[in-house]
Amino acid sequence: KKLEMFIDDLPDMPRLNGFNSVHGVLKPTSLQIGMFFTKWKFHRDLPPTRVFAYGTSRSTATVPGPTIEAVYGIDTYVTWRNHLPSYHILPWDPTIFPATPKHGGIPTVVHLHGGIHEPASDGNAEAWFTNGFRETGPKWTKTTSHYENKQQPGNMWYHDHAMGLTRVNLLAGLLGAYVLRHHEIESPLRLPTGYEFDRPLIVFDRSFGKDGSIYMNSTGNNPSVHPQWQPEYFGDAIIVNGKAWPRLTVKRRSYRFRIINASNARFFRFFFSNGLDFIVVGSDSAYLSKPVVTKSILLSPSEIVDVVVDFSKSPSRTVVLANDAPYPYPNGDPVNEENGKVMKFIVKDQYESDTCMIPKKLIDYPSADVSNAVRRRYIAMYEYVSDSDEPTHLYVNGLPYDAPVTETPKSGTNEVWEVINLTEDNHPLHIHLGLFKVVEQTALLTAGLEEFKACMTEYNDAVKCQIGKYARGRKTAVTAHERGWKNVFKMMPGYVTRILVRFSYIHSNGSYPFDPTQEPGYVYHCHILDHEDNMMMRPLKVIK
Ligand code: C2O
Ligand code: CU
Repeated sequence: KKLEMFIDDLPDMPRLNGFNSVHGVLKPTSLQIGMFFTKWKFHRDLPPTRVFAYGTSRSTATVPGPTIEAVYGIDTYVTWRNHLPSYHILPWDPTIFPATPKHGGIPTVVHLHGGIHEPASDGNAEAWFTNGFRETGPKWTKTTSHYENKQQPGNMWYHDHAMGLTRVNLLAGLLGAYVLRHHEIESPLRLPTGYEFDRPLIVFDRSFGKDGSIYMNSTGNNPSVHPQWQPEYFGDAIIVNGKAWPRLTVKRRSYRFRIINASNARFFRFFFSNGLDFIVVGSDSAYLSKPVVTKSILLSPSEIVDVVVDFSKSPSRTVVLANDAPYPYPNGDPVNEENGKVMKFIVKDQYESDTCMIPKKLIDYPSADVSNAVRRRYIAMYEYVSDSDEPTHLYVNGLPYDAPVTETPKSGTNEVWEVINLTEDNHPLHIHLGLFKVVEQTALLTAGLEEFKACMTEYNDAVKCQIGKYARGRKTAVTAHERGWKNVFKMMPGYVTRILVRFSYIHSNGSYPFDPTQEPGYVYHCHILDHEDNMMMRPLKVIK
């Protein structure tokens, strides 16, 4: 029997202050957040589901976890504690080299996605730890993560990042939102504020068994190579803030939604069923320079879009937030009745006065100046297939994760990266520490492309393989609301995407208040978690 849509109310996850207020003066704080094995109700008619959830105690743990509220300039320290059992609730595959503790238990490590902080607090995939820190991975150094909060205000999210287990640990529930506010800069913008009108919407897809358990296909697409690994996880139900297709009754006024795509592999192309606009104010962890009005937003896994929606303009009493992105994106199946709907808004009749306005300008950060880039790098994305034409693994630059580091940017500099996507899928590329702007996207000419691919597979050298001869197809414009500073972007198949990556803050040229050159360094990777887990990740080592 199908689950009825728009039955559960949209929850707001519990909020945790990442600062301490002493007589109105804000001070750094230390949080203790655990990972618990508990149950979570995803829908009124679904039995409680066994999950792994973040929270300050087992009884208050939620999926998604609590929203951490941080303030610019006030350090947040978090001790992440693993209270998980010995066995996973989902199938994981030993052939993709996951973290494997000798004494059992579930390896976990937390990454604050979009955060600019020291390497030791970055959630390196090999810095994992098991229950009670009984066992730790080779790159583990400390129990407490330090988030500086000295970057631009905006939206981040925290999630598990353990080697080869990220996809199952997130599917099990280990993810949550993190909002960084800068009151002096943000209050003059007069955007909707307060927890009623300013809410994170964390969206992901899941499938469930009849008993409520999270369903994941446990037979690999190519079982002789990988008995369990599948190239992409897709679920039938669309979950927002932990409820399947929830509903929210809204006042006839503007709301701000910080929409996070926390799916493993599903892209969403959001639109409103009654044609209502999105007014985009930010993307990933940074504000745009001015608001952009649009009817449709394509959001890949881990991308964040920050929007204002003015329900006083709603031509109807109810409006559905819908999705029409094929899966896998862009060449997969079209959406169906279930995954084409996300949530429903019920708009109250009475008009409400609100004092928020849409400002003409938001925050101006320096533009991407390609001329001062100190270095150009070519980053190629490959998919390896078996004789039966099933993918076996994916590589960046033809190299596995543990090959020696090749990307060593200098702290404080800008670089141009030309990302060559030789696969058939769109891969969201995420870079830790660095923020980037998408400069242009150029199609590879199809004539001779097979030769280019063959040359790349042999030499992995874009210059030697004459990339300039092929990167001459049509250019696709970067969508207006995606021209700001980002930490993840969609690499179109058959295209070269040129990005300008900045290894310093975007709001000042000041150096980082921490040493970015320390071990264990950073990483960059595809944020389709099933790809990331199967080698589509590389180390990133910042140097002085
Ligand atoms: Cu959102 Cu390296 O991850
Ligand atoms: Cu990918």
